[in-house]
Amino acid sequence: MTSASPDLFRSAMSRYASGVTVVSTVHDDLDHAMTASAFTSVSLDPPLVLVCVDKTARFHQAIAVTRRWGVSVLAEDQADVARWLATRGRKLEGQLDHIPHRPGALTGSALVEGALCWVECRTWEMYDGGDHTIVVGQVLGIELPEKERSRPLMYFRAAYGGAPDVTNGPD
Ligand SMILES: Cc1cc2nc3c(=O)[nH]c(=O)nc-3n(C[C@H](O)[C@H](O)[C@H](O)COP(=O)(O)O)c2cc1C
Repeated sequence: MTSASPDLFRSAMSRYASGVTVVSTVHDDLDHAMTASAFTSVSLDPPLVLVCVDKTARFHQAIAVTRRWGVSVLAEDQADVARWLATRGRKLEGQLDHIPHRPGALTGSALVEGALCWVECRTWEMYDGGDHTIVVGQVLGIELPEKERSRPLMYFRAAYGGAPDVTNGPD
């Protein structure tokens, strides 16, 4: 074992394959949205999820105030969306102009069309997580697409890819 230098830590964590989400909120009438892979479910009763948000991200300032947010779980063909919403310093105004989306019914947060599912949350608790904040959300609502899509967008070793088709898998 070697002590965790930032490069080694990054390299090790890049071997953990994850799904990719867009987290979103509305602050001062402006849609904030950011690519996030540090998303997971936490609790079934009550239904809780979490996302880890970089303290230096503009999204951090927004979610800390609004405490209402949405999550879109991206599908395999949405790598361009993920790339764009991970671009540091992109102009916030109009950042979703070329991404089909709609406001969530419960939070108004932008939900990306074509995603595998959508979740709307209110912040349950925020915990310090070093240079990130662990934002735990109580799930207010869930939506699944009418037409089931099966392949998630995945992120592994700094590259986007798909996953095996699991159309016949259990829910
Ligand atoms: C695949 C991928 C996953 C990411 N996951 C997270 C994450 O979970 N949390 C986070 O704070 N930033 C994450 N980022 C980085 C943010 O998307 C990026 O820093 C943010 O969009 C910068 O926006 P800003 O300039 O508005 O701060 C991820 C980036 C990529 C490419």
